[in-house]
Amino acid sequence: MRYSDVTPKQVYLNRRRFLSAGAAAAAALTASLPSRATTKLDGVQPTSYKPAGEAVTSPDIITGYNNFYEFGTGKDEPAKRARNFKTSPWSIQIGGEVMAPKTLEYDAILKIAPLEERIYRHRCVEGWSIVVPWIGFPLSALLKQVQPTAKAKYVAFESLYDRKQMISEGAAGIRFPYVEGLRLDEAMHPLTLLTVGLYGETLPNQNGAPVRLVLPWKYGFKSIKSIIKITFVEKQPVTTWSREWPEAYGFYSNVNPMRDHPRFSQATEHRLGSGRLNDLRNTLLFNGYSEVASLYTGMNLIRDY
Ligand code: MTE
Repeated sequence: MRYSDVTPKQVYLNRRRFLSAGAAAAAALTASLPSRATTKLDGVQPTSYKPAGEAVTSPDIITGYNNFYEFGTGKDEPAKRARNFKTSPWSIQIGGEVMAPKTLEYDAILKIAPLEERIYRHRCVEGWSIVVPWIGFPLSALLKQVQPTAKAKYVAFESLYDRKQMISEGAAGIRFPYVEGLRLDEAMHPLTLLTVGLYGETLPNQNGAPVRLVLPWKYGFKSIKSIIKITFVEKQPVTTWSREWPEAYGFYSNVNPMRDHPRFSQATEHRLGSGRLNDLRNTLLFNGYSEVASLYTGMNLIRDY
């Protein structure tokens, strides 16, 4: 099962053309549906991360055009179906190869480090991109609290899967819970954001409320939503999309214009909602975040995709 199996190509292409043609109105239709109220996040530090010359994508697109398979495989489904998703109380269990395992409640997570706005480019493997004003703090601040042991080489993440609130594995075409993983140095990198907000407010449900990851140099699917568990491990953990289709989705999934997906070229991307008709741009290695290059020195980025 793969993106293109669950989203018939023609439907997907039509939808993409529609959006890339600057038809924010299409997304606005979805966004105008009532959704769970988000609340303002106080004390958010202004951004020092803003890609030069890039306009932030409109909230209608960011909150109306989503991948969140637990709430459906159509781009407009998460906004509708996650409307009543219960995100409180919420806690994250952190354990594995650590000296001090912990379960942290949502309110305690918000107090771990100052909240900052980070405007990141977001590149989806399907060939579209957006620019998003996230709010959060470096994941490293949370991970340091549990004191990883010398055996900890990777970090595994798990999303909530609640069959009462979410669709079945059969309907989604992938196994749940959604799982992701990072090498420890990737998880500790200052760009890796533990994300709790968007556009000045708490995360909308469809964007992964109440806590998700955002890694701007990797394809969007690495940025796991609605996290309930973080485990330090010795061996490379299983990840959802590489389990479902290993030839298409690797463990690293760094944005790389030279390494095509079997169905989608990675050389270029359609910027959604820029107001320009068919705004096609060249995709950059690491999505332009060249400061992460040193994490992969000596690796073959075509083989280790
Ligand atoms: N996390 C979970 N739990 N379930 C998902 O289906 N989709 C991924 C990622 N995280 C997904 C997930 C994919 S494919 C993308 S592109 C991004 O979330 C989309 O994030 P956004 O909807 O906030 O743009």
